[in-house]
Amino acid sequence: MTHAAPRTIQVVAHRGASEDAPEHTLAAYRKAIEDGADGLECDVRLTADGHLVLVHDRRVNRTSNGRGAVSALELADLAALDFGSWKDREESPDWDSDPALLSERTSVLTLERLLELVADAGRPVELAIETKHPTRWAGQVEERLLFLLKRFGLDAPPPEGPHPVRVMSFSARSLHRVRAAAPTVPTVYLMQFISPRMRDGRLPAGVRIAGPGMRIVRNHPGFVRKLQAAGYAVHVWTVNDAEDVQLCADLGVEAIITNRPRQVLSQLGR
Ligand code: G3P
Ligand code: CA
Repeated sequence: MTHAAPRTIQVVAHRGASEDAPEHTLAAYRKAIEDGADGLECDVRLTADGHLVLVHDRRVNRTSNGRGAVSALELADLAALDFGSWKDREESPDWDSDPALLSERTSVLTLERLLELVADAGRPVELAIETKHPTRWAGQVEERLLFLLKRFGLDAPPPEGPHPVRVMSFSARSLHRVRAAAPTVPTVYLMQFISPRMRDGRLPAGVRIAGPGMRIVRNHPGFVRKLQAAGYAVHVWTVNDAEDVQLCADLGVEAIITNRPRQVLSQLGR
């Protein structure tokens, strides 16, 4: 294999440093920032009363002590749940002795709070926000997302440097809605498999960044090269094994999304 010239690959923490702390909690995102991650990934869902919260699954059953669909619950319902104790307490023996730390590891996180954390990070940290269940709400997820980005001054590019936020989705329609309302916000088209329409490395119109899953990259590195030849930046998820990190580096992808940012940064010599 020919090795690409050394270049900086952006390391993005998937649901925060989610190997070390419960996914999508403030603790996981703080840890990712401490670990030196270049960016943070999160999934957004709309609650019954219109708040964007960071929860991966349609239901809260796996990651909390509650039950039910996020879309059927209000923010106050979610705030009463424990989103951290499902993760092994042995991993961090002292976290339950400090009430503030306990809350950061167990409370549902809103997108708004994450935007505040990033604003106060003290260094540039990019955000990769994935819209979940966008068809269920027919545009309301994107509308609320763009409202928040605007409030934080993130709906337009900064005077210099890259746009600090990008929106990702498996739904081309969701990305289209984002571009229609905020044309300068970069969009990432996520792919779990290669659909026949995309075999030649052409993605839906308007998309500039491809987001293939690691399985695609491992099994079809030629497809990644096609995407690159067609001019797309490539952001790969979810890259946790050293061999996969190396393959991504060899292919010269732009970003790696990982549950273990510290280990990936070390492997990349950072
Ligand atoms: O970063 C993209 C990746 O997170 C998509 O898959 O299921 O982890 O949201 P999932
Ligand atoms: Ca995601």
